[in-house]
Amino acid sequence: MTIRVLPELLISQIAAGEVVERPASVLKELIENSLDAGAREIGVTLDAGGSRRVQVDDDGAGIARDDLELALARHATSKIASLEELEAVASLGFRGEALASIASVARVEITSRARSAPHAYLIRAEGGAPDEIEPAARAAGTSVSVGELYFNTPARRKFLRTEATEFGHCEEVFRRAALARPELAWTLRHNGRVSAALRPQPGAERAAALLGKDFRAGAIEVDARAAGLRLHGLAGGPQAARSRADMQYFYVNGRYVRDRLLAHAAREAYAELLHGERQPAYLLFLELDPRAVDVNVHPAKTELRFRDARSVHQFVLHALKRALSPGAAAAPVSYASVVAPAPATPVQGALGIAQATQAYQSFVAAASQPAPLAEAAPEEAPPLGYALAQLHGVYILAQNAAGLVLIDMHAAHERIVFEKLRNALDAGAVQRQNLLVPSVFRADALEVSTAEENRAALEQLGLELSATGPNELAVRAAPVALASGDVAGLARSVLAELREFGAAQALAARRDELLGGMACHAAVRANRSLSLPEMNALLREMERTERSGSCNHGRPTWYQLTLADLDKLFLRGR
Ligand SMILES: Nc1ncnc2c1ncn2[C@@H]1O[C@H](COP(=O)(O)OP(=O)(O)OP(=O)(O)O)[C@@H](O)[C@H]1O
Ligand SMILES: [Mg+2]
Repeated sequence: MTIRVLPELLISQIAAGEVVERPASVLKELIENSLDAGAREIGVTLDAGGSRRVQVDDDGAGIARDDLELALARHATSKIASLEELEAVASLGFRGEALASIASVARVEITSRARSAPHAYLIRAEGGAPDEIEPAARAAGTSVSVGELYFNTPARRKFLRTEATEFGHCEEVFRRAALARPELAWTLRHNGRVSAALRPQPGAERAAALLGKDFRAGAIEVDARAAGLRLHGLAGGPQAARSRADMQYFYVNGRYVRDRLLAHAAREAYAELLHGERQPAYLLFLELDPRAVDVNVHPAKTELRFRDARSVHQFVLHALKRALSPGAAAAPVSYASVVAPAPATPVQGALGIAQATQAYQSFVAAASQPAPLAEAAPEEAPPLGYALAQLHGVYILAQNAAGLVLIDMHAAHERIVFEKLRNALDAGAVQRQNLLVPSVFRADALEVSTAEENRAALEQLGLELSATGPNELAVRAAPVALASGDVAGLARSVLAELREFGAAQALAARRDELLGGMACHAAVRANRSLSLPEMNALLREMERTERSGSCNHGRPTWYQLTLADLDKLFLRGR
């Protein structure tokens, strides 16, 4: 085998694989270039979800005639010139690669006029090689039009999804950018129709325009600084929380990022405010010295590395937590504050977690021994005993042979539903129940198209959805076990999963996450009062359900406090 140097076009096409995943990634690169050029007004025009055309017009600095050809060349950039500059980079682009990569897999046309130039110039490139430069007419600024994405790489073209799906992704890119730069004017046109027109406006108004008035109304303003770090933006209140992490906008130095460290810090800051798997909604901007963060981790630049990850995490966590803490705003009603009361006296503290865990574990071990449950004599008390009462709408108290059992009713029910769904899916499909009154909910274009494209997968999951309008979906049938729960929320969470991971993956590798999300919507909510027979029925179902000792997220569903534990608490005996 001989080693060969690859041709330039092929190198660009390989690089394109990393940055040009779909029309939305082209749009992201073009918008970033316009922002780097200091544009005040950005217009986006899409045809056929962007696969026929993605065009961005700006009124930025423009490109001089002699630089036009270079703009399309690989490793050519006006943004950095040295390693020092790379380490301190403040512009969104710096690799000098985006346009070259895009031009290797699409038809690109750039029309640009530098501010001092007497007129504009135009350059075209189809699959790499640029044509002659021609004079053209245009006000100062740049238009880049990218047509027929993947026209020369048919294998990749096949990966493009429906127009509605691709448009949905483009819309999301547009939204991310417009949220970060409210002081600019933005327009979005699709197939000749204006779908968004935004005047320059204050950040909070932009957030209301793009994330909804409800988000804005319940959001808490954040602005904190410490040691060269600044966190500002809007933290959504508990009522804006969602079942999916799809309204989490985090920016670092103006760049939208998906960073685990930041997401984790935010999640922790919200831990006491949101229960279960509710996902916070937020729009947050972290500002720090560009030298303290490396954005050159991945070509798409949505991942980062912080030099001092720990202090960034601590800062974000505490800044957000302080903003969210009751007193800072109207105290939110939350069930979490009931869940974990701090030990009030040393005596309560004496019943340490270690003991409780130990008791729990030994009880689990006993309960999971082969089949004693089914064989128990009828007069023998069941392992989890009989319900006595409900505590604060959250816990069930039950008495069994060993003493007192505390059950987290939501977590336990969630587990039961989850196991039922999993067994049903293993056996083929989840059983459906038609709803007498379909549950109608507002959906975006992407949700509607996801529902249409994944009919079979939805059916397997026991869901039947139909579009009742361009922005409306109706749930007509839901899984039997879940039909009385929040079916619209359930449908939404399934659609989000399908759209993010595709049906095949959602039903295989991510099956448990998917079912867990479904179960969460069905399970008895905290603060619902149950009758004693209902509570006992739940206990009996727990005994019948595999792995009912912990919820889908691995937290315990119940604790045993033995009489000996209680005696110790009251310093009895010995
Ligand atoms: N809208 C625009 N206005 C002005 N100049 C532009 C515009 N788009 C591109 N350019 C010029 O073309 C060059 C190449 O753009 P390209 O996106 O390929 O690379 P980059 O932005 O420098 O780096 P990256 O690959 O990280 O995006 C830029 O450095 C810039 O000088
Ligand atoms: Mg760029």
